[in-house]
Amino acid sequence: MSNYHIKHLEEYFQVYRKSVRNPEGFWEEIAEEHFSWRKKWDRVLRWDFKKPEVTWFEGAQLNITENCLDRHLSTRGDKTALLFEPNDPKEEAQHITYRELHGRVCQMANVLKAQGVGKGDRVCIYLPMIPELAIALLACARIGAIHSVVFAGFSSIALATRINDCDCKMVITSDGSYRGNKTLDLKSIVDAALESCPGIEKVLVVQRTGNAVSMHPKRDQWLEPLLEEAPQLCEAEIMDAEDPLFILYTSGSTGKPKGMVHTCGGYMVYTAYTFKNIFQYREEDVYWCTADIGWITGHSYIVYGPLANGATTVMFEGVPSYPDFGRFWEVVQKHRVTQFYTAPTAIRALAKESLEFVERYDLSSLKVLGSVGEPINEEAWHWYNNNVGRKQSPIVDTWWQTETGGIMISPIPFVTPTTPTYATLPFIGIQPALMDEEGQELTGNQVSGRLCIKFPWPSMARTIWGDHQRYHDTYFSAYENKYFTGDGALRDAVGYYRITGRVDDVIIVSGHNLGTAPIEDSINEHPAVAESAIVGFPHDIKGNALYGFVILKEIGEGRNRENLSKEINQQITEQIGPIAKLDKIQFVSGLPKTRSGKIMRRILRKIASKDTSNLGDISTLLNPEVVEEIMENAL
Ligand code: WT7
Repeated sequence: MSNYHIKHLEEYFQVYRKSVRNPEGFWEEIAEEHFSWRKKWDRVLRWDFKKPEVTWFEGAQLNITENCLDRHLSTRGDKTALLFEPNDPKEEAQHITYRELHGRVCQMANVLKAQGVGKGDRVCIYLPMIPELAIALLACARIGAIHSVVFAGFSSIALATRINDCDCKMVITSDGSYRGNKTLDLKSIVDAALESCPGIEKVLVVQRTGNAVSMHPKRDQWLEPLLEEAPQLCEAEIMDAEDPLFILYTSGSTGKPKGMVHTCGGYMVYTAYTFKNIFQYREEDVYWCTADIGWITGHSYIVYGPLANGATTVMFEGVPSYPDFGRFWEVVQKHRVTQFYTAPTAIRALAKESLEFVERYDLSSLKVLGSVGEPINEEAWHWYNNNVGRKQSPIVDTWWQTETGGIMISPIPFVTPTTPTYATLPFIGIQPALMDEEGQELTGNQVSGRLCIKFPWPSMARTIWGDHQRYHDTYFSAYENKYFTGDGALRDAVGYYRITGRVDDVIIVSGHNLGTAPIEDSINEHPAVAESAIVGFPHDIKGNALYGFVILKEIGEGRNRENLSKEINQQITEQIGPIAKLDKIQFVSGLPKTRSGKIMRRILRKIASKDTSNLGDISTLLNPEVVEEIMENAL
């Protein structure tokens, strides 16, 4: 019997050792015993981090939706698969069973086929958190189309960039979306994006809010009438284990977003296995991850991981503050949620409000709490543990990335003793390494360095869509034969890992990964701006907020700076989305630069964080005098 469900600490250590000593044998056993394959693999693993090239289960054939849907029909057909909780608490929740979900996925798959989508085609999904979003992912997977979900908070320009980067031929969207007491018009954002997307042939529109939209005659169609006509059976396309399942964009420290490519077989095995263990999921549980499916967390731990285990997974359309700050806890009580997985930024925002909002509800159903997206600070950890978990529900602080596909470092609840702010131990099969600045691995405990992974795991991204060189350069060039994560971490005396944050030019704001370069590019396009630099600074709720240092062109001198700040943020909102807006904008006459012309962000970060006691040696700068000026006028 393979070790699919780990139940105590000795077992964890024993299985971990096995997974490291004989990774091929270990993953083969897991894959063999817990999934259905149309054809088994010829070879479990092939890898070369120099190229880089990684394949898992080469030669195997499967369809992930048969694992997420079909194989549960005989045993769990009437069990709730998707539990949809609408934005408005007065609207009824929907319990969509495995049988019904299977039928609806097949119908949508048939619609996609009828509209000319086939295996390998890219479909962009730009939808709010409604059941059709999960159904659209699965429908693509059913027919072998590659989905590219774009978070429905991104602007039309950001959407267009992502559509064009991977040549999508279709967009699935909705008339609008509900978020708290606001109704947003999604269709017009799509319309604006498509003005610069010549490759899009068809747009399918879900009706959600009923607001007026304009339908482009040949291109756009309402989805419902097409679904009604479509048969509820659709043969699953047989996929190779290494065929792409989806593309998901993540920001880089430079240039355009990176389309991370995940493949069918390894992704399925790893997300399912981590889900089972890290949430200690059991048959009767009701699991809720509050993320949006627009991010990797939603792909892996709302849709694929839970459904592959036959779980009941909650999809929440709303926001934590609507109709009031008790909404999360109201939903936990209402559906008797057993596992609750959210982001530190949400916890911090709720911890600021009255405890009354928590105490009002019966949270006794909760067994496991999860945290993801950024380091969780000690205060937030304790608030979560004391008030939501009532000191009885272990917190799993799960470290991972869009690129890793699944959780990499995390406690296993009831197995690994937790420590606030520590992601604790590597998950089964994961081999972390901490590196020093010279490229040497730091062995032993009580060391801190740059976090790398030195052996492949099944759900790692295989490439960046259309740019394998960039995949190599970003992740495999910094340290020989290692995947570099971009994060710093420490390993304490007992071998627990604590993630200390990004060491590159990516800033995590409210759990969203933002690259400084695209934001700076957007600011620099403002006609009054000559140059700019963005850094993060600590923020109570968001974790980090953005601070912009902006040099104006001379023509800008006479202008009202408050208006300029507004215009800059407006520009960022249009080009990227409101999540990338700056909290502070300081107009400066110059930026500290090295003699080779590189902006010294380290100095700007210290000024923005009001931590200027030790700026280090600035005498080697090209323009040391500017530092004084920036400090004096810091916001
Ligand atoms: C970056 C990846 C993985 C899903 C959501 C984010 C940071 C993520 C943690 C954690 C400390 C964390 C890292 C990582 N991060 N989880 N538990 N503790 N930092 O995915 O947008 O690809 O961002 O988020 O800096 O590199 P992402």
